[in-house]
Amino acid sequence: MSRPEHIPVLLDESLEMLAVDRPGLYIDCTLGLGGHSLEILRRNPEAELVGLDLDEQAIAVAQKRLEPFGGRVTLYLSDYRNLPEIEIDFQRVRGVLLDMGMSSFQLDSPERGFSHALDGPLDMRMDLRNKNSAARILEKASEIKLAQIFRDYGELRQARPLARAIASARRLKPLESTAELRTLVERVCHWIPQRGKIHPASKVFQALRIEVNNELEGQDAFLERTLRLLPPGGRLAAISFHSLEDRVVKHTFLRLADKEAALPLIDILTRKPIVPSEDEVARNPRSRSAKLRAAVRR
Ligand SMILES: C[S@@+](CC[C@H](N)C(=O)[O-])C[C@H]1O[C@@H](n2cnc3c(N)ncnc32)[C@H](O)[C@@H]1O
Repeated sequence: MSRPEHIPVLLDESLEMLAVDRPGLYIDCTLGLGGHSLEILRRNPEAELVGLDLDEQAIAVAQKRLEPFGGRVTLYLSDYRNLPEIEIDFQRVRGVLLDMGMSSFQLDSPERGFSHALDGPLDMRMDLRNKNSAARILEKASEIKLAQIFRDYGELRQARPLARAIASARRLKPLESTAELRTLVERVCHWIPQRGKIHPASKVFQALRIEVNNELEGQDAFLERTLRLLPPGGRLAAISFHSLEDRVVKHTFLRLADKEAALPLIDILTRKPIVPSEDEVARNPRSRSAKLRAAVRR
């Protein structure tokens, strides 16, 4: 396991959107190493926090970091899409934060298989109780399904040739390591490193990660159910890291804020998404694709 490290992204901006100076309950749906949560609790002594994550390693680290705040913190090892089922007094909730994707802790741990730059098993499960690893998908999914995953979730131009190459390679031996997949991608995409050009394996790994963790399923329903549970003035802020996630947040917000509807549910606080400053990107290059959108319950 790598050293547990993660720099919280758009920290000031997201906490400002949540207006965390109000007393009450805040929910961090993607606790990670607790970077955002820690700051909410530090900035507001009257804040209580519920944190969720489906990665048991992340929860263990966050639990230690948040220990000094004692009874103000309750943590759940859970998919945030189960939040509406958790027994919480939603009338007390002031803000809900969603900071999607992976933490640097996950990305930098070779044994988790999230990074094509580090050699490790093709795992990519955020929830270690999940049976479906990336290796299993690469072994079992049909060629058509693989092409669909690479195209829809990775927007990879060579989705079909790559699926074909995987189907042919696995007839001899299943793909097992991140390095094997990366080499195959480089061959199929005729990769020549160039400054400023994204490695095609980034897109392939993103696509597989989304499939392994079922990342997009039920996102819109989750956002709507959660916003409906919030009391008036309750806020929701969502940080996304790729256009597929951002699109879901944007469209769900627009639908629920529809002024034509008899009773719009929310007001949108971010006409355009908030993105990291140049300074933040320089300090933390992994923040570069982040987009923050926020809404408040009417
Ligand atoms: C970008 S990190 C959050 C980092 C955190 N804000 C911090 O500053 O330390 C995203 C976290 O969300 C978790 N996660 C991803 N999908 C999830 C889901 N559906 N339910 C719960 N947690 C999830 C990941 O395991 C990861 O720890």
